[in-house]
This record gives sequence, C-alpha cells and structure tokens, in this order.
Amino acid sequence: MQKNAPIGIFDSGSGGISVLRTALRMLPNERFLYYGDTANAPYGTKTEEEVIALAKNVAKRLLNAGCKALVIACNTATCAAAATLRAMYPDLIIIGMEPALKLAHDLRPEGDILVLATPVSLSSDKYRLLYTAYGAHAHSLPCPGLMDFVERGDIDSDELKAYLMDKLSPFLKDGRVPAAVVLGCTHYVFLKKTIASLLPEKTLVLDGNEGTVRQLGRRLSAQNLLSDHPAMQERVQLTTSGDSSALALMHRLLHLPE
Ligand code: DGL
Repeated sequence: MQKNAPIGIFDSGSGGISVLRTALRMLPNERFLYYGDTANAPYGTKTEEEVIALAKNVAKRLLNAGCKALVIACNTATCAAAATLRAMYPDLIIIGMEPALKLAHDLRPEGDILVLATPVSLSSDKYRLLYTAYGAHAHSLPCPGLMDFVERGDIDSDELKAYLMDKLSPFLKDGRVPAAVVLGCTHYVFLKKTIASLLPEKTLVLDGNEGTVRQLGRRLSAQNLLSDHPAMQERVQLTTSGDSSALALMHRLLHLPE
C-alpha cells in the first residue's frame, strides 16, 4: 500500500464532512477522497441489512480508487457494517465511529448524559455494549429526521430548534442541567452551536471526531502508512451519489469553521 495514496472517508451524506474537516487539520500531509452516499440517505432509519449493503458498495468504490485506509465517518454505518467490512478486508485500516459516551462518562461521571443518534445506531449491539459499560447516567435519544435538516443546509432555523427542544426539554425541566450531550451522528456536529445555544452553559456538548482522527493517525503510523511529504495535489476530492446540490452543500459545510 502506498504511503501517499489518499484516505477514503464516507458517510450517508454530508455528515462525514465534519470528520473530514477535522482530519484535514490534524493530518496535514494527507489527501482525502470523500464519498457522500446522498442518493441513499438517510442510513439511520433503514434496516441494518440495507446499511450493510450500501456500505459494502461505497467501500468497494473507494478501494477501487486506490485508498490506503477507510474511515467510516458515520456512526450508523459503523454500528451496522464495520464488522462486515473488517471481515471482508482484514488487512485494511478501517476506522469507525461510535457516540462519544465513554468520553462523556470520563469527563462527567455524574449527571444526565444525553446521547443523540440515529435509530439504527441506538438499537445496534455495538451501542448496547457501550451503553452497558458507560451508560449508567445516560439517556439515549433517537433522532429520526434530524440529519435531514443538515442535508437541507439548515443548521439554525426555528423549525430545527423546535425539533431539538422537543428532544431536550424533558431533561431541562425544573432547572435540571444535563452534564453532557453527545452528538452521536456526524451530521449533528454541524448543529453543535445551535444545540449548545439551547442548553445551560455548564452542559458539555461532545462529539467523537477528534478521537476518530487521532485513531486514524495512530493506525497509519503503526503501519508506516503516514504520508511522508506535504500533499502535492489537491488535498480533498468530494464525490457523491447525489446531485450537484448535494456536492455544493458538501463544499459549503467543509468551509464552515470547526
Ligand atoms: N451521519 C450518520 C451518522 O453518523 C447518519 C445519518 C443518517 O444517514 O441517518 O450516524
């Protein structure tokens, strides 16, 4: 495998762009090929079998394009399909994501932890194990439809805030202050500011993007696959199964400040 080959990153749509943005900052010598499977989004309300089939297709596409590693920048696809992909490509570096519940638990061992994620993620075996280990104070909040706001380019409307308040308000009643809110879907990272604006200042809002990219760097380094010189070509190529408006949205989100 070539050190200077690109890293493949994918998601059901534009959520994984939040991971790509972090990866561009943390791994400055690397090039990335991004695939947003917008035509088949959302993944989070499909069956596990459907998500596995879609993830297999995307992985094949990125590997055919010569990627040296794969980042599943989607909690849903990781929960459903990471084990299948790792079994199919045992020698490949495959980095997945999971809701940052362990981080929330370590930083806030007491108090309510709210985990926002898709129905597929929250009903997966992978999440059940995580919850058993770190979920003593956690509440899992399935958010079907929340990623669609981001896919429409809406990251701060009143309609979005109403959706979020519907989920959050039971935990804010009578002066309750949640200890942490975990953004367990890469789309939600683009909603971080809006979500934080609805919460008490003390509540941490956490995602797993930095941890995921750190793990990618560690794995590449261990296999001597980190690029050894600054990228000579364009560092990012964005591709999608969607239309030109999906691509335009991905470009726009990539340039939002972290
Ligand atoms: N961005 C994806 C995740 O991290 C899921 C969105 C979806 O397709 O439902 O879970």
